[in-house]
Amino acid sequence: MIMTEKQIALIRESRDQLTPELEETSAAFYEDLFRRAPELRALFRDDLSGQGMRFMSAVSVIADNLDDPAQLDDHVSLLAEGHAQFGIEEPAYRAMEEALIHAFANALGDQFTSEVEHAWRSAFRQVSDQMRVRGATLRSN
Ligand code: HEM
Repeated sequence: MIMTEKQIALIRESRDQLTPELEETSAAFYEDLFRRAPELRALFRDDLSGQGMRFMSAVSVIADNLDDPAQLDDHVSLLAEGHAQFGIEEPAYRAMEEALIHAFANALGDQFTSEVEHAWRSAFRQVSDQMRVRGATLRSN
């Protein structure tokens, strides 16, 4: 899926709007993820402090690279390598997408328009599809 320039701009703008409340947003995101998919909790270490910010920094790097396919590909390949051991399947990615959208909508209120939501969903799917495919290839080798 190709993101339009407008969508990339919307993603970066909302990423910047989220920055002041990133810590709370990422904590809320993981809480919501584990409410939706409690079976995922065991994959993560007990102490999640730091994880939210690692996740959000990765999201921010993705936002920076959405218009640079080669860079994006490198970054997503590295992420896929880090995740291959977990054997993450489609439903986990869907749960994560919903938790992310929910956390961003809560943090941004009216600024999180349906156009912004759609742009984030497209970016998330593009990245997660790429992570899954790459993860499956890594596991089958
Ligand atoms: C766009 C999607 C995702 C991004 C950007 C992302 C990002 C990250 C980052 C940055 C880390 C820290 C370690 C590293 O750098 O590799 C991490 C760890 C991890 N991620 Fe993801 N992730 C994504 C999707 C998922 C999904 C769908 C799951 C499903 C459960 C998942 C499970 C994990 C686990 C279990 C860890 C290790 C946590 C720990 O060590 O406690 N990730 N992820």
